[in-house]
Amino acid sequence: MTSKVYRGISSAIASFNSGASDTLICNDALAVLPKFQKASIDLVFSSPPYCIGKEYESARTSAEFVAIHEKIIPVIVDLLKPGGSFCWQVGYHARKGVLLPLDFLVHEQVRKHPKMMLRNRVIWTFNHGLHASKRFSGRHEIVLWYTKGDSANFDLDSIRIPQKYPGKLHYKGPKKGGLSGNPLGKNPGDVWDVPNVKGKHVEKTSHPCQFPVALPQRFIRALCPKGGVVLDPFMGVGSAGVAAAIESRRFIGIEIDDEYSAIAAQRISEARAGRAVARPDKPVVEPKGHEKVAKRPAHFRG
Ligand SMILES: C[S@@+](CC[C@H](N)C(=O)[O-])C[C@H]1O[C@@H](n2cnc3c(N)ncnc32)[C@H](O)[C@@H]1O
Repeated sequence: MTSKVYRGISSAIASFNSGASDTLICNDALAVLPKFQKASIDLVFSSPPYCIGKEYESARTSAEFVAIHEKIIPVIVDLLKPGGSFCWQVGYHARKGVLLPLDFLVHEQVRKHPKMMLRNRVIWTFNHGLHASKRFSGRHEIVLWYTKGDSANFDLDSIRIPQKYPGKLHYKGPKKGGLSGNPLGKNPGDVWDVPNVKGKHVEKTSHPCQFPVALPQRFIRALCPKGGVVLDPFMGVGSAGVAAAIESRRFIGIEIDDEYSAIAAQRISEARAGRAVARPDKPVVEPKGHEKVAKRPAHFRG
């Protein structure tokens, strides 16, 4: 059964308080968020509107981006539990070819709250996008991760990735000759290569800028305890909700657009039923050279 999408805020909150796995609300995040109980959320993970004229937003200025953040960040700080995490995925504001890194603007607002501590600035890289002709093509965006206070949940073992050289040995000291790597894998670092949701990506919907499920999924595993609550105040088509469902966390999603809310409800319900449509979080395949599309035509520069 598809998850219900609430319009009324009090009925949505009643459903959340009664223990619902998913609370999806089609409404304005700025109106809804202050109604939730303070200190009730483990992890806020979202990608806000960039105010650059995507289909879902009128082309606006960076001043409006700042104005939204001046309002929403104090509310989010209040909603987080002590030790809770705030992860904000942003790119760049572009006007007449001039770029403004949105994470700079976000950080200016978050640092007004002394309890909020910046833990990582994760670079999300991907290989597809517009081909620029007057500058290097943009192939990364940012996820800022803050904690509320310093006693944060960080389950590193849940997100370790395979070692590149698992057979590497200690070459000196008392452990000389023994394996030097952690058998559970290595820390994934702060540069993540995850394909973006474009073209024929399995997760693609009608939304113009979904993030891949694997992006929130790693943060959810590491930062939100099992059974904890993940909130996405700008949920779009619910990619963070799909990740929360796969990882058995509760989810609150808010989205102002009817069509995106309905798609989110469908995707999240499928994920709760064990049928998530999501690219697994695995390394990007490098072409070996023998594939038809990887063969270099004679007149291409080698
Ligand atoms: C960058 S997109 C998020 C996409 C999402 N991460 C996904 O994977 O589908 C931002 C979303 O915020 C929604 N939005 C814009 N203003 C809003 C508001 N005031 N309240 C709730 N949602 C809003 C837009 O409709 C858009 O879907």
